[in-house]
Amino acid sequence: MRTTFLHHSDKLPVRFIQVTDPHLFADKKAELLGINTFDSFKAVLSEIQQTPFTFEFVLATGDLTQDNNPEGYRYFSEEISQLQKPVFWIPGNHDYQPHMVETLNRYPEFISPLKHIIVNNNWQILMLDSQVLNVPHGYLNQYQLDWLIAKIEQYPDLYTLVVLHHHIAPTRSAWLDQHNLRNTSEFLSCLQQHCHIKAIISGHIHQEMDTLWNNYRILTTPSTCIQFKSDSYHFNLDILPPGWREFELYPDGSLITQVKRLKHNLFVPDFNISGY
Ligand SMILES: [Fe+2]
Repeated sequence: MRTTFLHHSDKLPVRFIQVTDPHLFADKKAELLGINTFDSFKAVLSEIQQTPFTFEFVLATGDLTQDNNPEGYRYFSEEISQLQKPVFWIPGNHDYQPHMVETLNRYPEFISPLKHIIVNNNWQILMLDSQVLNVPHGYLNQYQLDWLIAKIEQYPDLYTLVVLHHHIAPTRSAWLDQHNLRNTSEFLSCLQQHCHIKAIISGHIHQEMDTLWNNYRILTTPSTCIQFKSDSYHFNLDILPPGWREFELYPDGSLITQVKRLKHNLFVPDFNISGY
């Protein structure tokens, strides 16, 4: 699998953003639990463009569509291309990769299929596919684990971010934690061969986390549509606005990151719906 090399000023931090779980439908008017996912995705992109945070590229971390339809991928591509930055993506449990690959590859000017990104020859980003077809939980197959080990062995001096859709650390929400990455111990044993893992970045749980798991920094990010309530044993939605995450990578290996959310929340879910 090929590598993307990005070079920017090595005096300044390299900045990027993560957008995740837009859950777009073929019908732009369709709602997920009372929220129009196309409108909320557009609102997030619009606010990203209005913030003073300048960034070099975008990571889109899965569940780009909700209904297995190529149209959702087309809407995603058309809207995200307006940022005019390179976009790198991985699949989530809701994605249908035949449609996803075919549609996203029609936008090569901005959307890249590559999963290995080297930034300024001091950071690398490894984008993993944790999808198991037709089930909500995740699993890293042997190809993914072998590829992960190969990259961290090939570039032992690079500060490393590992990116996958499914969450690793428990959320303390039982209904959600049953849908986690299942083979975390195998994943962990791969990581332990490398001392420069700076963070593991996920989507999937539609909520913000910045915590430690086995001494690795775990970062998760709000969805661009519905938000799941944290620390909730049963399924529960949150009133928090849709959001995204900003990252700054420094040449000395330090990482600064923060979640941003829409300033005015026009996207309130239907709290009467009891399942997802
Ligand atoms: Fe999702």
